[in-house]
Amino acid sequence: MTPLTQADISAEIAERHAYYGSRVAAGAARLDSPLLDFAPYRSSILRHPTKNPRLVDPETIELVSPAFGQRDVAAVESDLTVQHSGEPLGERMTVSGRVLDGEGRPVRRQLVEIWQANSSGRYIHQRDQHPAPLDPNFTGAGRCITDDDGGYSFTTVKPGAYPWKNHVNAWRPAHIHFSVFGTAFTQRLVTQMYFPNDPLFPLDPIYQSIPDQAARDRLVSRYDHESSVSEWSLGYRWDIVLTGARATWFEPEGSEA
Ligand SMILES: [Fe+2]
Repeated sequence: MTPLTQADISAEIAERHAYYGSRVAAGAARLDSPLLDFAPYRSSILRHPTKNPRLVDPETIELVSPAFGQRDVAAVESDLTVQHSGEPLGERMTVSGRVLDGEGRPVRRQLVEIWQANSSGRYIHQRDQHPAPLDPNFTGAGRCITDDDGGYSFTTVKPGAYPWKNHVNAWRPAHIHFSVFGTAFTQRLVTQMYFPNDPLFPLDPIYQSIPDQAARDRLVSRYDHESSVSEWSLGYRWDIVLTGARATWFEPEGSEA
């Protein structure tokens, strides 16, 4: 079989976006969510849901699912640059924002977790063996609890782009994975935050699996000079909206990369 090229994947993305655009032009509702069986993102073909979701009993699942208390999360856990004896390599940055409901109200006391590649684009994971260096001073995971204003903040280094095996020469745009825990294990939401003006956006079938440009844009942080710190770090802002017309896109369970 001929290996899939970026041109093949880009053509498939364009074809599906054109179809979505024609549907919207014909009066169909805009989608805030991704297309779950988005063929350019190859592994979604086999693992997208084919049956309706089933409700689980939230009280029963709470008996066996992970739990945490607010006191279990230390303030230092939001700084990914101080987890080892030395400092990680890369562009030091902060990302901060608010978790909001659909009415713009702060979502307080939420466990927000992040994980990411290091500045070279490498994860500490056995499935990531591409030839970019691991950083002995960077694990790439952190968490915090939102404050009274729904605010969160992490200090980290900017992740690098990394290759994946969707097709030949496939690269993911730099991103940070975010999880918002909710108040029970069954409510957990997972998504990805991107950086402004990434040249890989048009090429990435995961980012492009969201057919609506406005919904894609809501996953992109903005550079915020006010939260940059002189001689120290660059600041990015990104709000997470849980519901409503401006909701952040959350990925289906079992997604990777
Ligand atoms: Fe990733």
